Amino acid sequence: MCGIVGYVGAKEAAPFLIRGLQQLEYRGYDSAGIATLKPSEPIKIAKVAGRVSQLSQIVERQTVSGTIGIGHTRWATHGPATTENAHPHIGGSGLVTIVHNGVIENYESLKAGLLAKDYQFRSQTDTEVVAHLIADRLRDLTSSGSGEITVQHCIDAVQSTIAQLRGTYGLLVMFRDFTDLLIAARCGSPLVIGVSKSEQFIASDTSPLVGHTDRIIYLADHQVAVIRPESIQVLHRDQGRIRPNIQALSSETQDSGLDGFAHFMLKEIYEQPQSIRNALRGRLDKDNATAHFGGLNLTTQQLRSIQRIILTGCGTSWHSALVGEYLLEELARIPIEVEYASELRYRNPPTDHNTLVFGITQSGETADTLAALREMKRKGHHALAICNVIGSSIAQEADGGIYLHAGPEIGVASTKAFTSQLTVLTMLALYFGRLRHLSFEAGLRIIERLEELPELVERALECHSQVKQIAQQFADASTFLYLGRHYNFPTALEGALKLKEISYIHAEGYPAAEMKHGPIALVDQHTPSVVIVPQGPVYDKVLSNLQEVKARGGPVIAIVDHFDPQVDRLADKVIQIPECDDFLQPVVASVPLQLLAYEIALLRGCDVDKPRNLAKSVTVE
Ligand code: F6R
Repeated sequence: MCGIVGYVGAKEAAPFLIRGLQQLEYRGYDSAGIATLKPSEPIKIAKVAGRVSQLSQIVERQTVSGTIGIGHTRWATHGPATTENAHPHIGGSGLVTIVHNGVIENYESLKAGLLAKDYQFRSQTDTEVVAHLIADRLRDLTSSGSGEITVQHCIDAVQSTIAQLRGTYGLLVMFRDFTDLLIAARCGSPLVIGVSKSEQFIASDTSPLVGHTDRIIYLADHQVAVIRPESIQVLHRDQGRIRPNIQALSSETQDSGLDGFAHFMLKEIYEQPQSIRNALRGRLDKDNATAHFGGLNLTTQQLRSIQRIILTGCGTSWHSALVGEYLLEELARIPIEVEYASELRYRNPPTDHNTLVFGITQSGETADTLAALREMKRKGHHALAICNVIGSSIAQEADGGIYLHAGPEIGVASTKAFTSQLTVLTMLALYFGRLRHLSFEAGLRIIERLEELPELVERALECHSQVKQIAQQFADASTFLYLGRHYNFPTALEGALKLKEISYIHAEGYPAAEMKHGPIALVDQHTPSVVIVPQGPVYDKVLSNLQEVKARGGPVIAIVDHFDPQVDRLADKVIQIPECDDFLQPVVASVPLQLLAYEIALLRGCDVDKPRNLAKSVTVE
């Protein structure tokens, strides 16, 4: 989703801004722009409805120079993806220039007030309204005196403007009269300041800061930062000036590039043995046949008294929650409720004080997940996060939680974060199980199986060349069905999501037995079904469902974990994954599904890492 970068110092700003925007490209965007400023010169702006690479060419041609600048990648919300709507936006004929992430909900009424004062709008965005509001306030503040604009006027103008805003924002503001001042403000949309001695860097996540500084300040909600080359002052809406909390930039955020892979998605699929090892590291305790987590921030007694757990998230993270439901109910015997975060935030479920809430999120920035956790906290529940991005908004706001340690996930389609989430949820189920009824032997067995998991995933990756061939046969299909049961029902949903988001093929995941209640009407010789049919308690049942599809002429790609002559005869293609216990099958079976989606998307010429219309981190509702 939208990205922000900014620079103030002694060097040319544009190279950092462009490079920074490239680092943020993975979040998904449709237009981009930068603005820079030099003393006594008009502001220079370059914008494009397209890629940062195109913007970079424009910047070179137009020599967009200056030692202060701001930049943005936009994911359209208010108004289509056009050059006019791309940020930065100017307010008050150039008095201020801003970039903005988030959504201003009351922008129409604010705009009406500005139109009444004859402000002209060049775009349809909510952001331009904010730019004019700051400029308007600045004019008011200076009209009674000499007319000279001071830094304090700029701070006051930003503060009184944000006091009028309803919605979410991460704002970065540059002022015509100052080539050494940026003001940042945050409410619900992340901003990080990279601290250095005589220059400062700003971005909406840490990736553009890597290599420039190892000290950072995460701006919190209702904070405003006054950023100058040699100083940073942080002001809080209610507390006035506060001491900024300078933290070390985690080495986990440091991405090593493509490492020879054609795409980040492929690299991340192949990283899974390692990311699962990272999730497991230091958490398994064989002596007590349990798992340990440092950050749940609850006593053992409190955890024992939990009577219900709500698992919430969006998209792939919601699929993890569904697997978590099976795991926690089976291994820990705790009633689980899985809820889309976007629904939970507006529902009012009756809960008692022994209900624990887990928000599952890769980015830690998903607006709905954050809002759902806040709502649950407001109701007095302990709200925890299972999160990948260290220092993200959700990681900071949750009462505690568990990091995935999967490393940066750049491909828009989530892969390694999903399997790490499942690994963490399995350990969580083990932990809760051991607090209750689960025997030492049963706990130890789960640990042994978990320890084998990275190697199982490594072996599952060996199916890649076979999957590539299968992709060639089915890449032209216009609809796919994904079928699985029990633990592999969510696996089917996730397989379908991977395919639809990167190849734009319509795909549906179903619990296999649901087919006959409607979806089987879709089956014909042009509609392939991917049937996940490994050994386990529902093996025979899924086999019957597979037969039902075949009986109606539907091509079948079967995912199995042992050779079965019957499946071999029935299915058009069979992919064999390593055998494992049923509770780990969603991790292992996801590997061929990820690869299938990847290979089909490639054959269809799709932009695998940046699929159309999608954003990596969905910071709007
Ligand atoms: C799909 C995908 C999305 C995310 C969803 C939640 O591949 O990546 O469905 O899972 O937007 O994002 P996080 O996990 O960052 O909260």
